[in-house]
Amino acid sequence: MKQYTSVHDVTDLDALVKEALQLKENPSQHKSLGQNKTLGLIFLNPSLRTRLSTQKAALNLGMNVMVMNLDKEGWALETEDGAIMNGTTVEHIKEAAAVMGQYCDIIGIRSFPKLQNRDEDYSEYLLHKFISYAKVPIVSLESATRHPLQSLADLLTIKENTPAGKRPKVVLSWAPHVKAIPQCVANSFAEWMQQADVELVITHPEGYDLAEEFTKGATVTTNQDEALQNADYVYVKNWSSYTQYGKVLTDGAGWMMTNEKLALTNNAKVMHCLPVRRNVELSDEILDGPDSLVLEQANNRTFAAQAVLKRMLENL
Ligand code: CP
Repeated sequence: MKQYTSVHDVTDLDALVKEALQLKENPSQHKSLGQNKTLGLIFLNPSLRTRLSTQKAALNLGMNVMVMNLDKEGWALETEDGAIMNGTTVEHIKEAAAVMGQYCDIIGIRSFPKLQNRDEDYSEYLLHKFISYAKVPIVSLESATRHPLQSLADLLTIKENTPAGKRPKVVLSWAPHVKAIPQCVANSFAEWMQQADVELVITHPEGYDLAEEFTKGATVTTNQDEALQNADYVYVKNWSSYTQYGKVLTDGAGWMMTNEKLALTNNAKVMHCLPVRRNVELSDEILDGPDSLVLEQANNRTFAAQAVLKRMLENL
């Protein structure tokens, strides 16, 4: 594996899932694979789970890890080709990424969208520039449009909780939030579920349709109650509007997931990528109750990252 930015970089999804679950059984079994190899983790946005689980995954493989909060600790970065850098930016991404590529064997990068210009965000220009200039394998730690390590961990969690031979109904249910949130997690989850053996239903208020490239083939409805009927998994997530890009169109308070709504489901398990706004997106009663899988998802982040890093190390 030379890069990991979406499900399309995975040639054999079932095998990757199997490998991640095997690594979970014995996390140290490939401790010598990453010896003398360095993982650089570059963050332009905050993180708890991605940062720590990816470090842990690399340490399990025997790698050295360097972490840099580039937005706070690096020089102000210029990304425009041909820019006359007589303003506030100090270093061009061409040099910054190339230098980091000299220090690291694999680089992970997290960069959120600005939610101002849809074409710019959806072009994934920053990720692509890193891939071009760093010249080492790149792992997306969440980009403008996708969060593939989260989605792999979500798929592992569904696999572990689904009886063999069952094709579960999985509902991605929009949730309220106090601010505009990117579409990355929802896009990515929808894209991964389309590649998995599940029935995917997406439900959201009017105006919150995701880009068709991620939802094609899924059932999409604005009727949340109808969507929840007989669901085996409910993935709760907020996202801002894609069509009215980056806008919050409604407070959507009635869309918060509660035990009352879960009564419509097939005793569904509830998922969320975290961090979660308690009693805004999801009620305390669900998060503190037996149907929540949120901590299992967070735990599986380590083994998702470890499976991806292992494949990259094997390909160096
Ligand atoms: N789910 C997730 O990516 O969490 P962090 O933003 O804390 O990394």
